[in-house]
Amino acid sequence: MKLYFAPMEGITLSVFRNMFDAWFPGTDVYFSPFLVANQTLHFKNKEIRDILPENNERICLVPQLLTNKADQFAWGIRELETYGYSQIDLNLGCSMPQVAKRGKGAGFLADPEVLDRFFDDAFEQIRGENVKISVKMRIGTKDPAEVRDLVGVVNRYPFCEVIVHPRLMTDLYSGDPDMDAFRYVYDNCVHPVCYNGDIYTAEDYSRICSEFPRLCAVMIGRGFLRDPGLMRAIRGEGETPPSYIRDYHDALFAAYCSLYPDPRQAVTKMKELWYYMRHRFEGKERVLKDIKKAASPAQYREAANRMFS
Ligand SMILES: Cc1cc2nc3c(=O)[nH]c(=O)nc-3n(C[C@H](O)[C@H](O)[C@H](O)COP(=O)(O)O)c2cc1C
Repeated sequence: MKLYFAPMEGITLSVFRNMFDAWFPGTDVYFSPFLVANQTLHFKNKEIRDILPENNERICLVPQLLTNKADQFAWGIRELETYGYSQIDLNLGCSMPQVAKRGKGAGFLADPEVLDRFFDDAFEQIRGENVKISVKMRIGTKDPAEVRDLVGVVNRYPFCEVIVHPRLMTDLYSGDPDMDAFRYVYDNCVHPVCYNGDIYTAEDYSRICSEFPRLCAVMIGRGFLRDPGLMRAIRGEGETPPSYIRDYHDALFAAYCSLYPDPRQAVTKMKELWYYMRHRFEGKERVLKDIKKAASPAQYREAANRMFS
């Protein structure tokens, strides 16, 4: 069973991916945060930078597209193919209101007939292209019963795999994953299925693997951010010493400091990560506040040192 690192916009960018992979090897495939294909038929420079092969040399990357128009999809696929990518993922899972209310990401799941027409047109437009298409989706927008029609639609098209985060668009990340809806996908989807959602421990991972032995892959996002040692635990390498986590943290901060002309941006990036890493540091809420308040790299380093001490 393969292990994927979930795409997380603003977080799992190339610097992060390379660093994580160097310190915690074991991810088979990283999925990039979404690149927007819209009417401009132009990716932003920072989106391209993130997926440039020279910025992802050591890892296996699948770029992800966000769009709801077949011609923009076909343009995005061809564009990404020019960088040498042979698999591209379509985002039907993003629940951010500014995306979903425009009928993109999870918002595109609202009307299976519209989705069906989109796929029909989109696959027609890329016929003959030598590229595999995967889709990362939720189980519906408002009602888990939507999953049935959605699986019916997805089954009609040649996806290489279907990655399912078993929550509704309206759930955002609240509540538990709907394992009945996931079971429905697992039993009825004709494509290889990947499970994604709320895997925080090696036991969570083993449970999913034993309950769903035919999965092609498991995808993990927040679990790896909270505790990168989860990778080693899953691989049966035991607990990761706190000093190793600290060294990884320091190396990541140093990489951000050399990437950004304004070192305060590096501090901002690290603060975003602490939103997840804080779970490993219960009882240290006051130090966490100091991390959040840090306005310079020196202040940040000092607070982070206290956190790890
Ligand atoms: C901050 C953030 C950014 C995300 N960005 C993306 C994205 O760009 N594309 C995508 O398909 N999913 C995105 N997701 C969803 C994750 O890929 C994943 O499906 C979700 O976090 C559930 O998996 P997890 O419980 O293992 O984290 C994002 C989630 C978060 C919290």
